[in-house]
Amino acid sequence: MTSRLVLRMFLMISCLCPSFQQEPPFVYNGFDQAGNNLHLDGGARILPHGGALQLTNDTLRQMGHAFLQQPIDYNSSEPVSFSTHFVCALLPAGYASGHGMAFVVSQSTDFSHAEPTRFFGIFNTSSNESTPARVLAIELDTSLAPELKDISDNHVGIDVDSAVSKLSANASYFSDKEGRSIEIKLLSGDPIQVWVDYQGTTLNVTLAPLKTEKPSRPLLSSASINLTEIVQGRRMFFGFSGATGSIMSYQYVLGWSFSKTMATLQSIDISKLPKVDHPSNKHESSPLVLDALLSLIACLVLGLLVGVYMYRRNLYAEVREEWEKEYGPLRYSYKSLYKATKGFSKNEFLGRGGFGEVYRGTLSKSREVAVKRVSHEGEEGMKQFVAEIVCMRSLKHRSLVPLLGYCRRKRELLLVSEYMPNGSLDHYLFDHSITSLPWWRRLAIVKDIASALSYLHTEADQVVIHRDIKAANVMLDAEFNGRLGDFGMSRLYDRGADPTTTAAVGTVGYMAPELITMGPSTGTDVYAFGVFLLEVTCGRRPVESTLSAEKRFLVTWVCDCWRRSCLVDAKDPRLIEFSSGEVERVLKLGLLCANLVPDARPTMEQVVQYVNGNMALPEFWPHSPGIGVLTPMALSPARLTIPSPSLSSSSNNSMFVTHSVVYGSGR
Ligand SMILES: *[C@@H]1O[C@H](CO)[C@@H](O)[C@H](O)[C@H]1NC(C)=O
Ligand SMILES: *[C@@H]1O[C@H](CO)[C@@H](O)[C@H](O)[C@H]1NC(C)=O
Ligand SMILES: *[C@@H]1O[C@H](CO)[C@@H](O)[C@H](O)[C@H]1NC(C)=O
Ligand SMILES: *[C@@H]1O[C@H](CO)[C@@H](O)[C@H](O)[C@H]1NC(C)=O
Ligand SMILES: *[C@@H]1O[C@H](CO)[C@@H](O)[C@H](O)[C@H]1NC(C)=O
Ligand SMILES: *[C@@H]1O[C@H](CO)[C@@H](O)[C@H](O)[C@H]1NC(C)=O
Ligand SMILES: *[C@@H]1O[C@H](CO)[C@@H](O)[C@H](O)[C@H]1NC(C)=O
Repeated sequence: MTSRLVLRMFLMISCLCPSFQQEPPFVYNGFDQAGNNLHLDGGARILPHGGALQLTNDTLRQMGHAFLQQPIDYNSSEPVSFSTHFVCALLPAGYASGHGMAFVVSQSTDFSHAEPTRFFGIFNTSSNESTPARVLAIELDTSLAPELKDISDNHVGIDVDSAVSKLSANASYFSDKEGRSIEIKLLSGDPIQVWVDYQGTTLNVTLAPLKTEKPSRPLLSSASINLTEIVQGRRMFFGFSGATGSIMSYQYVLGWSFSKTMATLQSIDISKLPKVDHPSNKHESSPLVLDALLSLIACLVLGLLVGVYMYRRNLYAEVREEWEKEYGPLRYSYKSLYKATKGFSKNEFLGRGGFGEVYRGTLSKSREVAVKRVSHEGEEGMKQFVAEIVCMRSLKHRSLVPLLGYCRRKRELLLVSEYMPNGSLDHYLFDHSITSLPWWRRLAIVKDIASALSYLHTEADQVVIHRDIKAANVMLDAEFNGRLGDFGMSRLYDRGADPTTTAAVGTVGYMAPELITMGPSTGTDVYAFGVFLLEVTCGRRPVESTLSAEKRFLVTWVCDCWRRSCLVDAKDPRLIEFSSGEVERVLKLGLLCANLVPDARPTMEQVVQYVNGNMALPEFWPHSPGIGVLTPMALSPARLTIPSPSLSSSSNNSMFVTHSVVYGSGR
């Protein structure tokens, strides 16, 4: 009963005893359980997670000591010897880091006289043989101190009483596999294994990287170390010391095994060792490269973004001027047109007219429009043209193709008008692969166009001359009603030019002779309308160069037929059901309108009356003056290039005329 109580009390006392000393041999795989056994001072501390023993951090002129609480006593009958194995890691804290750490055997743990920096927190400047520090140190030195006779900034040394090493060597290990020494970088941050063995008077120091067996050859071996002499007795403290100066490193001990004899030394379990934050020396060694790389990437990304922005800006670039403000509501953004036409894609291409390419577009709310791109050199006259175009928007007639708005870009004008689902009339007349239109429909279209042209000539606020009446400019809506389009377009090409050159704009075969000398007038529109009547009825172009001489020119041929009293034979052979009276009336009206003498032509108001049968045609004959006579231009279209509008400085004009010549001379 009493013995139990005594045992209990003994256990309690021994547990409470703060200076409980773990006798060697011992091993620490991390120091989280070693707190009570170690005496720490300076910057030394055991890190909370994993238990790495940190001797120094990135504080200037710092010392850190970690010693066994109790000294180890050697009794008089046992030899003074020890074997130790520890794993340490030195991490750089900056581009040049120091100073290093040491394994220390010391007379006392009082280092109040010691200095940091190259003295490792154990020696001072006056430590030498005459004033000995009573210390044996194995230094892992990472800075070069020439006054201490250091051999390099990466060496291991045996120090006795002084920071001037008794023996030192560049850090390396002997690889038994390769049979040679391999350098070790102490300050790499990688864990390093160190073995220190002392027996008799021989002290061996061996290094190796982690996961490498202890090399058979030590790095340092000194045969003249008398430890009892150094520490002045058989009682000695074992531990570690580290120091920083103006250069710093994080210095850690991760595991420690210690024994009085080599045979009883326990091995360290590497897998249980704490990890320390590796400052990834790859990044450390190449911050400039990394910075450069990052800046390069940033530049590339920025460049790409700017490129995309510039591309889009350029893609959607428009020309907008002050005077256009009043037309604001009519202005379409290029971006919206670009999107509506799917980037002016081939699938949306409707056709090529004399003035540009036409595309189908779908604006928001699934509204279909036709977008015509008109190339245009220079800005001169543009203001007037846009003003006219916009003015034409006020023209309201059911047989006109409504203009919805416009957009301007550099060298380009875009006109947005209502989409005509059935395309232009010329396809139905000249393309024999398409079912031709019956007579009643052709007549209805002729009436539509006559009424529209009459409106332009008389009913609009000011006289509007179309200048380019032809089947190709007559559009068909969903119900096949004729709609006159493209009015005013030729205006774009005669701005500010000499009237004599101006005059020739139009399409060969439809151009009245006086255009050259007088310029466009309602009379020239009537002439073109006359040719239009003939082509609608006969289903052929005004000039077909492939046909025989007597048939080649529509006007003369129709007149010939009349002269031979078989006028109806001139009609389109594809017409089956028709009224001969109506066909004859329309053909005669065509010839009347295409009279060579301007004054002999009817006005559009009269034409509307004639075409509707409200008024009888005037009396005239195939041999009446001016009837069935060709315009000089139609006779020799090649000559047209000389007085052509190409003289008016625009390259588009010559392009246009070339096109017209090709058109006029038949396809
Ligand atoms: C470095 O160690 C000193 C002394 O232990 C401590 O006061 C300081 O806070 C530590 N610095 C850092 C950054 O941990
Ligand atoms: C000295 O220590 C050894 C082992 O530590 C022990 O075996 C021996 O008995 C001790 N001798 C004396 C005189 O205490
Ligand atoms: C040792 O240091 C003391 C004090 O600095 C000095 O007086 C002495 O000459 C030194 N001795 C040797 C051998 O360097
Ligand atoms: C250097 O350290 C020794 C003991 O190691 C001490 O006696 C001496 O006073 C110290 N010298 C200076 C200058 O601190
Ligand atoms: C130690 O390394 C340094 C450079 O790293 C070299 O200059 C020096 O010669 C080496 N010393 C020995 C003893 O190998
Ligand atoms: C020290 O190293 C030498 C050479 O390898 C070896 O012969 C000796 O036994 C070692 N001594 C100790 C105490 O490890
Ligand atoms: C070490 O030094 C002490 C005292 O100077 C001496 O008694 C002892 O014999 C020496 N030991 C060896 C192994 O030389």
